[in-house]
Amino acid sequence: MRTNHWAKALLLTLLLPFTASADEGMWLPMFIKRLNQADMQKKGLKLTAEEIYDVNNASLKDAVVQLGGFCTGEFVSSQGLLLTNHHCGYDAIQSNSTPQDNILQNGFYAATKADEKKNPGLFVDILVRMEDVTGKMLEGITAATPEAERMATIQKRQRETAEAAKENGQYVAYVRDMFGGNEYYLFIYQRFGDVRLVGAPPEAVGKFGGDTDNWMWPRHTGDFSMFRVYADKNNKPTAGTQEGNVPYVPKKHLPVAMQGIQEGDFAMVFGFPGRTQRFLPAAGLQLTLDESNPARIKLRDTRLKIWKADMDKNPDLRLQYASKYANIANYWKYFIGQNEGMNRLKTVDTKKAEEVALAQWIAQDPARQQYAEALPAIEEAYKTVRQYNLSSQYVNEGAFGTEIVTLAARMMPLAGALKSGDKGAISKATEALREPVKDYFKDYSAPTDQKVFAALMNLYMQDVPAAQQPDVFATVKKQYGGSMSKCADYVFSNSFLTSEAKVNAFLANPSLAKLEADPAYKTYQSVYSNYVQNIAPKVQAAQAGLARANRLYVAALREKNSQKVYSPDANSTIRLSYGTVRSYNGRDAVNYNYKTTAQGILEKEDPTNPEFVVPAKELALIKAKDFGRYADKDGNLPVGFITDNDITGGNSGSPVINGRGELIGLAFDGNWEAMTGDLAYDPELKRCINVDIRYVLWCVEKLGGAKHLVDEMTLQNNGPNPGVGAASANSDTMNADMSDVEKMKVKTEKGGKTKIKRKKSKDSAAL
Ligand code: ARG
Repeated sequence: MRTNHWAKALLLTLLLPFTASADEGMWLPMFIKRLNQADMQKKGLKLTAEEIYDVNNASLKDAVVQLGGFCTGEFVSSQGLLLTNHHCGYDAIQSNSTPQDNILQNGFYAATKADEKKNPGLFVDILVRMEDVTGKMLEGITAATPEAERMATIQKRQRETAEAAKENGQYVAYVRDMFGGNEYYLFIYQRFGDVRLVGAPPEAVGKFGGDTDNWMWPRHTGDFSMFRVYADKNNKPTAGTQEGNVPYVPKKHLPVAMQGIQEGDFAMVFGFPGRTQRFLPAAGLQLTLDESNPARIKLRDTRLKIWKADMDKNPDLRLQYASKYANIANYWKYFIGQNEGMNRLKTVDTKKAEEVALAQWIAQDPARQQYAEALPAIEEAYKTVRQYNLSSQYVNEGAFGTEIVTLAARMMPLAGALKSGDKGAISKATEALREPVKDYFKDYSAPTDQKVFAALMNLYMQDVPAAQQPDVFATVKKQYGGSMSKCADYVFSNSFLTSEAKVNAFLANPSLAKLEADPAYKTYQSVYSNYVQNIAPKVQAAQAGLARANRLYVAALREKNSQKVYSPDANSTIRLSYGTVRSYNGRDAVNYNYKTTAQGILEKEDPTNPEFVVPAKELALIKAKDFGRYADKDGNLPVGFITDNDITGGNSGSPVINGRGELIGLAFDGNWEAMTGDLAYDPELKRCINVDIRYVLWCVEKLGGAKHLVDEMTLQNNGPNPGVGAASANSDTMNADMSDVEKMKVKTEKGGKTKIKRKKSKDSAAL
């Protein structure tokens, strides 16, 4: 039965005590006070803006770290104990595993600090402060400044400003652009290079549901792991693990909320979202949809199948390739979901309509002529980008999807040194390769890689326009009758890059002639030089045009929609997003509850499917309902929950924090219905998937027997979380419809009564 949608919506909205709107936005913490505080308080925030971000006093930001440049973690004890996701710690967990002591499979908790495991190369960055340096970067630059000059000037200033902020190497600092180069910010961090693995659940818990459940709700994954940050005796960072280092004492660690969550609770996520492209023009979306994503999916699918077949045959290889496999599979599924979502949600059409409206707006006023070149220039630039796009995709995901080609690429600096003949440079380049080579071969199978080489290079040869192909393919056609697998045979039988012993022998006595005669190195050289000479210059020229056009496009959009506060696209800088615990309607007649429990683990359990195996001990504990202090009010063990926070990759491991600043969970994924979220935000569908902190602690204490780690944390129960309540959390559907018709201002008065102000918007139909 159909009802008049917005009329019903209006009625419901008037009846509801409060409206929660799911807001798009990964906000810069330094602007919380100005832009978001009032809205956050309406949703249930009890903290002040200074308690969230303050450069002079300890604030929440001091408890949040960027882990390894790719994830987020948070301090949960005064001894530097850090929580993050299992999939963020995955590589470290795998690296510390051997077939004899397989902690990836079995899980691991350090009984004492001496048992914690080192992770060379892993670091955390803790934000000291950030600063708006837009004025400094753009000083003297005008609309008339030639683009190349603008770029060079800004890049130089970025470098100098960052350099000065490092204070002689004390800090890590960089300037990042926001809003397509309309704004610039300086970020200053302390980098701690001694990060030790403290604990992780068995993979069957930490990756429960595997790739089948990945990017989907409902979820039952214990996606967490624990590390500890170490510092020197003065609590200062060290570059790596150092003798005499002690646990770092953070300025702030998060207390843990034991009371549990309800729908409508306020939730904020603090972390380091990696990349969104919400200002990507329609032409860019179209290219992603019909060319880039299909290519990536095809190439990854091919690689994953080859890896999986070999992993299934050989448990040692399965351990070696576990982390690589998980990484490639994660975004393989992402690209599939993104395309499915773009088709379903008509993302390109929506963007096209926005651009038509923008073009009209620009044409309406001579003062807006400064923007007139933007949209046509974008169209033009994308024609070139499209022409060379497959080449870029196949180099990245095809040639460089082959491990031996990436190893060959690493030989480049040594080749350069050998050419120069400079002995010092040669020995430096040789030394720099020792560790990476060791790491590389620890997890390498040449026979597996040979199959990948044959398959991916073959696709490259088939799919990329003939005029853009590297000459190695002409050789394949001439010498091997076009058979890439014959070529692969030859490469892998004759290259010294297939074995650690041979590579080490080469490094002991490096020679340019030997390197340049190597068939794997030759293949790489052919792909690389073709790309650098024939593809990159064209793409870069188009990109330079795009940079200017995008900057104008974003500026025009922001001016046109001046009533809307935009947040900048994610770019691996620290952000805060806020929202509420909230269920959603996935599709017609399907409503997803906001939380999952251990009951669902039993429902999903399947001893015949490796992705859904439940460890015997966990099974027994769940069946006995042995949940201890972590049980929910109804006696169930909470496992996961969803919020409408705006997050993306890089946020993984981020703390989900209630209105009082207490930890309620860890963000670890997004949902299938909103896989387009990085390109276009849909408030109705987008959810952030979190593991409930009580499940994390249950896994550590009950399942892992590591109560000493829980004892390090600050557990507290201050009663129900502040929030807007369940009914309001879901009033958004109505709100979204409403906003098209009229703007509503809803204010809650003391005592819970509601005062509603209505303001007719210009373009509203008469009501
Ligand atoms: N999709 C998650 C993210 O990108 C990663 C989940 C890891 N789990 C897995 N089964 N691969 O943050």
